[in-house]
Amino acid sequence: MAPMADSIKKSHGFQTIAVHAGRNVDPSTGAVAMPIYPSTTFERDTDGAFSRGYSYIRDANPNRKALEACLSALEVGEEAIAFSSGMGATFSVFQILSPGDHVVLHRDMYYGVRELINGIFTRYGIQHTVVDMRNLDETRAAVRPGTKLFWLETPTNPLIEVVAIEPIAAIAHEHGALFACENTFATPALQRPLELGADLVVHSLTKYLSGHSDAMGGAVILKRAGDLAHKIRDFQHNGGAVLSPFDCWLILRGIESLPARMRIHCENAQKIAEFLSAHAAVSKVRYPGLTNDPGHAIAKRQMRAFGGMLSFEIRGARAEAFLVSSRFQLIIRATSLGGTHTLVEHRASIEGAHTRAPESLLRMSVGLEDTADLIDDLDQALTALPGSLL
Ligand SMILES: Cc1ncc(COP(=O)(O)O)c(C=O)c1O
Repeated sequence: MAPMADSIKKSHGFQTIAVHAGRNVDPSTGAVAMPIYPSTTFERDTDGAFSRGYSYIRDANPNRKALEACLSALEVGEEAIAFSSGMGATFSVFQILSPGDHVVLHRDMYYGVRELINGIFTRYGIQHTVVDMRNLDETRAAVRPGTKLFWLETPTNPLIEVVAIEPIAAIAHEHGALFACENTFATPALQRPLELGADLVVHSLTKYLSGHSDAMGGAVILKRAGDLAHKIRDFQHNGGAVLSPFDCWLILRGIESLPARMRIHCENAQKIAEFLSAHAAVSKVRYPGLTNDPGHAIAKRQMRAFGGMLSFEIRGARAEAFLVSSRFQLIIRATSLGGTHTLVEHRASIEGAHTRAPESLLRMSVGLEDTADLIDDLDQALTALPGSLL
């Protein structure tokens, strides 16, 4: 495991850890910002050893080591392993399974995970059952003798469902299974699944952790170093899904402002959710910060704030959702999330046949713009709907 920066203690606060963990002032130059080390190969000692800790870029690189140290400090895990994408990180978790093993998953999840299981892991003999993990009886009933992994993303993409983490950890452990929790939407600034019983946390670093829509990455953070970490690390080395030094550097730079950015994302999302809830052109808003949201009470318990992601349904169907999104002037029609710009996406049309998103649903990644400007843009776009629907 890479060390924390010399000056960082476990007792330091989250903001301090986000700024310092994994980095030191460069001893040879005094540079405060970490240099980028693009070198693919590192010099051996005269006796053939690698006393400086690096041999080849796929095995380790100073920027990746720094990022991994910072991620383990943020999620309070013993080891973090960085990948070239969130899907690379997800793949690394499923590949620890063997033919005949069984996985229990919450029904709403990033659609790429569903495609990965159906397209690849089913062929490798991995079985799975999809349940509503908010229903603990249904979750317990899905367990089989071969159940080895529980997979939960909370809040979920795209329906913003919130699932209590602690009871799922208890069920998984009662049956000797591992529990992996995807923390991409909440980030460790709002929720720390390892402290709530998860064994593994998975991230798409492409989203809030990098935070500027300009770098791709993924990570698995493990509660304990050991055999499981070795298997996932082995996939990083030998599977080759490694993150480039420049992307590590960009993501680590993004993390410095994560706590500050998350505060504005959450404030903006709350105000927008309240505005949309009161709008005649909107039939439903999915945001756990709303007191009438089904996830509100659980989110209040397990999250520090309610996040920057929300989904809302336009009165009407696909045509009306497209009409509204075609009118945005400031808000950008684009997939992905977690960056500084506010993005809106029609999930049903990007996810395809197996989507769980209603045709009338638009997902919004609320950015860092002024709330009033976002609300003005939403308001003028929603007035595009024919009067009969309002
Ligand atoms: C919740 C969630 N998990 C995982 C992923 C996959 O991450 P990546 O695109 O970095 O592979 C995404 C991508 O949109 C996502 O939204």
